[in-house]
Amino acid sequence: MRKKIVAGNWKMNLGLEEAKALVSELKVKIDHQKDSLQSHGQKLPEVVLFPAFPYITRVVDIFTTYEGVSVGAQNCHHEEEGAFTGEVAARMIKTVGASHVIIGHSERRSQFREDDQLLAAKTKQALKNGLTPVFCCGEVLPDRENNQHFQVVADQLQKGLFWMDDQQLAHAVIAYEPVWAIGTGKTASPGQAQEMHAYIRKLIADSYNQELADKMSILYGGSCNAKNAADLFSNPDVDGGLIGGASLKPADFFEIILALVNKG
Ligand code: 13P
Repeated sequence: MRKKIVAGNWKMNLGLEEAKALVSELKVKIDHQKDSLQSHGQKLPEVVLFPAFPYITRVVDIFTTYEGVSVGAQNCHHEEEGAFTGEVAARMIKTVGASHVIIGHSERRSQFREDDQLLAAKTKQALKNGLTPVFCCGEVLPDRENNQHFQVVADQLQKGLFWMDDQQLAHAVIAYEPVWAIGTGKTASPGQAQEMHAYIRKLIADSYNQELADKMSILYGGSCNAKNAADLFSNPDVDGGLIGGASLKPADFFEIILALVNKG
């Protein structure tokens, strides 16, 4: 069975005190729920928090004894080390106890001009240093309006991620984030999400094999919130979510986590 994951991408938000408050509220909710879920033979999905770089060690320390809660970085550099002022290497992220890294988020593709070749190099660094890449793909609105969305997503995956062999790809997580849905309050309908997730899974099956396709977690991201999460997650090919705005509100984020528990 593939992993169910709810990930929170905090982006460039929260002061330290706010971040601490968010994490401690989340921790209380997880503690409270864990035992009662266990008594019903259920468990929480994997939770991955993506704070800004300065907070990573703090969040790692807080959840260090929590099985199923891990921490990641929102970005890494594409080189191992060197004279890259202001950048952070995958190795550094790994050594402070994080386990995941987001690569190819649309905000980095558009605002920082990150192209497919660069993203492929970043995924290489992630794997080399034992980090799980959470590789984002997704179309802008005109692509969808022109019925190019499948081709755009296929291109992003083939160029940025599918350089991996099947054993390497098994370590990656894919996040489908339609750009028109990110931070806009416009969510993909459950049907649109399922259609794209099934397409991505078939792409993996065709490029690699069905066994790997069945194993890989594909997350949905884009205005996913406490109200719509259950519908989105009810799709057979949606294995969880990469949550932006709603991950900054512990009650909402926890509702989203619970929505995935109920997927069964
Ligand atoms: P929102 O949930 O705020 O739309 O952001 C999604 C996202 O970009 C997660 O990486």
